Amino acid sequence: MAQRPLLIAPSILSADFSRLAEQIGEAEQNGADWIHIDVMDGHFVPPITMGQMVTETCRRITDLPLDVHLMVNEPDKMLQSFADAGADHIHVHVEASPNIQQSLQRIHELGCKAGVAINPNTPADKVLSLVGLADIFLVMSVNPGYSGQDFISSVLPKVSKLRAASDAHIQLDGGIDAETLPLALEAGGDVFVAASAIFKHPDGIASGIQTLRSSSLEAQKH
Ligand code: DX5
Ligand code: ZN
Repeated sequence: MAQRPLLIAPSILSADFSRLAEQIGEAEQNGADWIHIDVMDGHFVPPITMGQMVTETCRRITDLPLDVHLMVNEPDKMLQSFADAGADHIHVHVEASPNIQQSLQRIHELGCKAGVAINPNTPADKVLSLVGLADIFLVMSVNPGYSGQDFISSVLPKVSKLRAASDAHIQLDGGIDAETLPLALEAGGDVFVAASAIFKHPDGIASGIQTLRSSSLEAQKH
């Protein structure tokens, strides 16, 4: 089977915001493919994190695709403003969108790639009808809200089911590290979000990205 390119999307949720430009620059120079921006509204999930202003700031810092993960209620009201802020990809949670087809179509009209995010307890069946419309399936491997949580391996059969049904990107988000990335890759994932494994790596951001890439190479040998 042809191997899809493996993409790494560092999540700035664990970045040092007092040095955001420097840290994104370091990620970019060391092989990051997309920059993942975790938008939380204090309603869909308890924390309030970042929004359009930080997205605009990231747009000025990097030319990498900005991968905006909306963990918000009523996401449709925010699609235009995130597109205007410079998002390249916008993910909407199927659990938060009353009409997910319409949300994804609107994202396309705004000139962005459309992602559907799926919580760990939401079955693949809830999104299978979106094959052909979604550019990315963002499979949450933790319950959304916080970085640094443990990977939930029971989502892996869902990844395989989506991979069998779709050629879209399948992106894993939550608890991705050198141990869990190979499992997610094996199940059919091709894009890996990591916050703590990159920005909190004891030897720095470059080592964090390198360690994730090497883990995948080890896995592919077997
Ligand atoms: C969780 C966010 C994730 C999170 C991942 O709600 O969507 O993107 O930042 O953090 P780690 O990689 O530390 O699990
Ligand atoms: Zn995320």
